[in-house]
Amino acid sequence: MPITSRSNDSKGYAGDSGGRHNVKLVPRPGSLLGTSLAAEPMKLPADFALEGAEGSPGKVTFRHASHVDPRKPACVVCHPRVFRILEAGKTSDGERVQHGQMENGRQCGLCHGKSAFGLDRCDACHGG
Ligand code: HEC
Ligand code: HEC
Ligand code: HEC
Repeated sequence: MPITSRSNDSKGYAGDSGGRHNVKLVPRPGSLLGTSLAAEPMKLPADFALEGAEGSPGKVTFRHASHVDPRKPACVVCHPRVFRILEAGKTSDGERVQHGQMENGRQCGLCHGKSAFGLDRCDACHGG
């Protein structure tokens, strides 16, 4: 009987008839709440195209999505100690990003060439 089976479904787990369908679709209330809160990812700032210096082999785009886990956002690794937020494109000492600085382990070189891919991989950064 189609009508009876539909009204069983809409009652959900409260009126659980023990049918396979209900058991599968309705998670325990506690787990539903926990999942929806933990799974809410943070909205990250838009991609940022760094201003190209003379002689730059190609545009460098910094993507927060590659650098921040939106579920465990850690912004202070870079802001404000390394990069300013309010003056976009500036490092904390007001200079632009330059290879001389990166090779000394500053700016992007805090990680690139150490914990992240090296400065020898031109195309990985200068690819647009
Ligand atoms: C790995 C380093 C790094 C981390 C981590 C990081 N940022 Fe950034 N952020 C940058 C760089 C590089 C720029 C672009 C250059 C600049 O503004 O100094 C930037 C720019 C910004 C901007 C300006 C963007 C614009 O278009 O004006 C905002 C806002 C920002 N970040 C917020 C955040 C927040 C919020 C977090 C944490 C969720 C975060 N950042 C984590 C490196 C980082
Ligand atoms: C706090 C450490 C850290 C800093 C600072 C940092 N990066 Fe990264 N970056 C990483 C890690 C980790 C990855 C992931 C790839 C890897 O492990 O080699 C990555 C990946 C990338 C990628 C490849 C993914 C993509 O988005 O195309 C680019 C390009 C990049 N970084 C550019 C930059 C630039 C430009 C700067 C400076 C403005 C910068 N990064 C500063 C740690 C860092
Ligand atoms: C970790 C990312 C990254 C890698 C890898 C990288 N660059 Fe850069 N480079 C930058 C950023 C950021 C700038 C500043 C923005 C611009 O000028 O395009 C820059 C600027 C430059 C400039 C302008 C002058 C200067 O010294 O700042 C030259 C030339 C350059 N890069 C050449 C290279 C060459 C050649 C390679 C490979 C051997 C390379 N880059 C690899 C990020 C990178």
